[in-house]
Amino acid sequence: MGTEQLVQRRRHAMGPAYSHFYREPLYIVRGEGVWLYDDDGRRYLDCYNNVPSVGHCRPEIVDALSRQAATLNTHTRYLHHAIVEYAEMLADTLPGDLSVCTLVCTGTEANDLAYRIARAVTGNEGAICTHGAYHGNSTLVSELSPGFARKRPKPDVVADVMPPDVYRGPYRSNDPDYIEKYVQLVDDAVDELADNGHKPAMMIIDSIYDAAGIHTPPPEYQQRAHQRVRAAGGLVVCDEVQSGLTRLGDHWWGFMDSGVVPDIVTMGKPMGAGHPLAVVVTTPEIAADFARESSYFNTFGGNPVSATVGKAVLDIVQRDDLLSNVRKSGDYLLAGLRRLGEKHALIGDVRGKGLFLAVDLVRDRETREPAAAEAAEIMERMRESGVLVALIGEKRNAIKFRPPLVFTTEHADIALNALDQALEEEQ
Ligand SMILES: Cc1ncc(COP(=O)(O)O)c(C=O)c1O
Repeated sequence: MGTEQLVQRRRHAMGPAYSHFYREPLYIVRGEGVWLYDDDGRRYLDCYNNVPSVGHCRPEIVDALSRQAATLNTHTRYLHHAIVEYAEMLADTLPGDLSVCTLVCTGTEANDLAYRIARAVTGNEGAICTHGAYHGNSTLVSELSPGFARKRPKPDVVADVMPPDVYRGPYRSNDPDYIEKYVQLVDDAVDELADNGHKPAMMIIDSIYDAAGIHTPPPEYQQRAHQRVRAAGGLVVCDEVQSGLTRLGDHWWGFMDSGVVPDIVTMGKPMGAGHPLAVVVTTPEIAADFARESSYFNTFGGNPVSATVGKAVLDIVQRDDLLSNVRKSGDYLLAGLRRLGEKHALIGDVRGKGLFLAVDLVRDRETREPAAAEAAEIMERMRESGVLVALIGEKRNAIKFRPPLVFTTEHADIALNALDQALEEEQ
């Protein structure tokens, strides 16, 4: 079946709300490692997908999944060793008292449950989230997602704060007090909630601000923001759906870069390497408080197949030392992107950490005017040369690199050449 025909059929069968990447949508039929293959057998280097964390269709994952699927798949109302083992393995990767896992299916569900727990434990209703953030698509969580999902006026139980953006934000790194000024915005958010008659149940923080354009918060910001939220009676929830599982290259979980320990951590996307698996982790104390008010059941969350897949993912991350791979490949890619920044005036900023990087394109390095149309063109040209990237940022003018964790320096060279060539053609 041709691509054009499939586009028409999809629109008819699934409606217009679904979007697709690229002017000419890709019809991908096979994946292997960091490579995707279209229906004509053409291969593309995947610099975008974080869900196939240990590589597309990794044989060990396929094997673990099919063996367990052929043996048993039920739910958490029966005892099963794999479910308990997975929770124990995950707790071993986390600092402090973060040791009690609730297994769910999506990042949205994880953040939804985190908010419920925070409200139950604190007795407060309010939530603080960051401008441009995306935390999921349920009715509740979309209110915490000013980036894409919140389409209605902000409810008065939610306050948005500007996360540290030292490139285009109101306070930049040349201001000696920029960190405290961003922290002050958290205090302002607490005041805004108080004016509306609310106290914060939680602040939900990304360990790297993806949807806002891939900004890495300074550790002092995270530390002070945690203090201010707790002083106001709220819990701190770190959303590790994007930044977790070694993605940032120094630790298993992004928040560990800042030396902080949140009250609740949410995880998703890469945890099941393509299988829907997400997790909420908290402390025994908070879990006990929540359990006094509520029980929890999720039909598919934590089924033995998901848990078995999750274990296989953690095994591979450990055995193949993907943390070191991310650091090595990420540093290499970052250095290469910075070299391209010296060559091409269109590159205004290169930022990010590990295998989570952004190349911010500007029309003018002084004004930093976003070069959105140019970024879209470059993304299309890279696709034509067989390299898949995406756009990010409020104006979608930054090229985003967030490949599977098994991405190597050889793959980075291919991506760098494709970007270099696309930028040449743009001039
Ligand atoms: C940071 C973050 N949190 C939560 C979510 C929601 O995850 P899901 O799409 O699995 O519901 C996303 C999805 O893009 C995300 O990027």
